[in-house]
Amino acid sequence: MDTISIDLNKISTAGEAPVNEPERQYYFMAKLKEWVKQKSEELGRPLTFITQTFGCQMNAKDSEKLAGILEEIGYVETDTEEADFVIYNTCTVRENANTRVYGRLGFLNSLKKKNPDMLIALCGCMMQEDVVVEKIRKSYRFVDIIFGTHNIFKLAELLYNRLQSKRMIIDIWQGTDQIVEDLPSERKYKFKAGVNIMYGCNNFCSYCIVPYVRGRERSRNPEDIIKEIKDMVADGVVEIMLLGQNVNSYGKTLDKPMTFAELLLEIEKIEGLERIRFMTSHPKDLSDSLIEVMKNSKKICNHLHLPVQSGSTKLLKAMNRKYTKEQYLDLVDRIKTAMPNISLTTDIIIGFPGETEEDFLDTLDVVRKVRYDSAYTFLYSKRTGTPAAVMETQVEEEVAKERFNRLLKEVQDISADLTKRDEGTVQTALVEEINNQDSSLLTGRLSNNVLVHFPGCKELIGKLVDVKLAECKGFYYLGELVE
Ligand code: 5AD
Ligand code: SF4
Repeated sequence: MDTISIDLNKISTAGEAPVNEPERQYYFMAKLKEWVKQKSEELGRPLTFITQTFGCQMNAKDSEKLAGILEEIGYVETDTEEADFVIYNTCTVRENANTRVYGRLGFLNSLKKKNPDMLIALCGCMMQEDVVVEKIRKSYRFVDIIFGTHNIFKLAELLYNRLQSKRMIIDIWQGTDQIVEDLPSERKYKFKAGVNIMYGCNNFCSYCIVPYVRGRERSRNPEDIIKEIKDMVADGVVEIMLLGQNVNSYGKTLDKPMTFAELLLEIEKIEGLERIRFMTSHPKDLSDSLIEVMKNSKKICNHLHLPVQSGSTKLLKAMNRKYTKEQYLDLVDRIKTAMPNISLTTDIIIGFPGETEEDFLDTLDVVRKVRYDSAYTFLYSKRTGTPAAVMETQVEEEVAKERFNRLLKEVQDISADLTKRDEGTVQTALVEEINNQDSSLLTGRLSNNVLVHFPGCKELIGKLVDVKLAECKGFYYLGELVE
């Protein structure tokens, strides 16, 4: 499933590669298509690939782009790492993400010994760190290609270079202001898709490595976004998730500046599109006009992810979040006044340097006052190069863990309580898949992001159906189709 259709057979591979993008990549893709065909004929089977995504929805979207390029040149996707081409799209937001990648690399090496033609590429956020690349170059010589977050569009060229040179290819860009449009992208689901609206982040929260590895904020042109969504809708998509590190500051860097609220109004007009989601929102940039647009929209889902990170004004200042506890709570009040039923979710970091019991109680207080439908809770992880990493008062692990458990219990109790509030009502669900534990059931997603499982046939997948939420099971529902 591509969002663009290029006929690679019509691309000339004679002569030098074009300088401009995306034509340059089309040229390498055409060359590789011939190579993949030849190689498959030699082997008597198709060449296979797998992309493994570590990390967030941005990475998942990037992996779909990588897969789109590989499918275009004739590779076939598989679900095992015993493949001809394995790509790890890495994350580095917390240390344990890095640890997982190193662990898995050992296993890949053993697979490569069995299949010497196997190619291994590493890309994504972790590769933007010099120490990581240095370590892989020295100790993981079996890796074939290393690239970063700014040049994933170059996959075809990098693969071509690898095949020509037989040496490890390393291509990491420190930053970019380039946005390359019109490259293929696979879609995991036919009926829903992520759409990048901006890249990078300018916020420099003091614990966060993202601005260093994903670069400065860049917004895509609204025309490109709208066109991509229209093409997706024509191809069966009914729900989109607009992606950006901080969607509320969308459009500031455009030649003709535009707000996120204005972009949403344009997207709302797209006929055939039924549901709009977006993430992530930074509280400091969430405008009253966005609240108004959400309130009046027929398509924007009844859900807002609004990371608070901490409830302590002192810690929020040290985190460089640019809002106070009171300002956050006031924002939540305004949102709830406009949309009393909205489902709110959040991210919380426990154990940030300098966190005292009093700071922690402020966080618990916010959790109790806001009553989140769910909260992603993280133990603070020290990221080298960020201001927080050199703050002196690092919190002891034991203390942080104990607070973490207390927070988790509070979050879960509230969450179970809130989910129950819709029990007995009829709601619209987008049917996503056959339930992976009981194949007589389908799994659908409600507007507020909660899942419901109900009996039904697979022909309903991708459709919006009305479901009675018969029984709340904590974080999900068992339901019945309403004919
Ligand atoms: N330690 C722990 N959690 C972090 N996050 C970002 N950086 C760190 C870190 N160094 C969390 C934030 C963010 C989410 C995506 O990851 O809560 O919102
Ligand atoms: Fe990281 Fe803050 Fe940017 Fe989110 S807004 S990506 S937490 S720096």
